[in-house]
Amino acid sequence: MEWVEAGKVDGFPPGGARVEAAGHRLAVFRIGGDFYAIGDRCSHAEASLSEGELFGYDVECPRHGSEFDVRTGRPASLPATRPVPVYQVKVEAGRLMVLLEPVEEE
Ligand code: FES
Repeated sequence: MEWVEAGKVDGFPPGGARVEAAGHRLAVFRIGGDFYAIGDRCSHAEASLSEGELFGYDVECPRHGSEFDVRTGRPASLPATRPVPVYQVKVEAGRLMVLLEPVEEE
């Protein structure tokens, strides 16, 4: 298990941001005062979820429109049927840290 820095908290605007961390491509979302991190690649085809529009806790894939819950990684609408990985995050001394081991869903 490895915590890596994804960036300074102040550097994240509300909404999504793409982050490269130790070879992982992540989509980080700032919603209110909270942060969420999921895999940036859509599980359906090649698209960057950090570029999608947010509706509450759902991000809409910019390519074909599947919505993924940023808290669980699960798709709420077709055409995607598989979840994307979800990563634990924490804020430490003004920096957003991401645990580079996806949370296992039951
Ligand atoms: S690439 Fe995301 S829904 Fe198709």
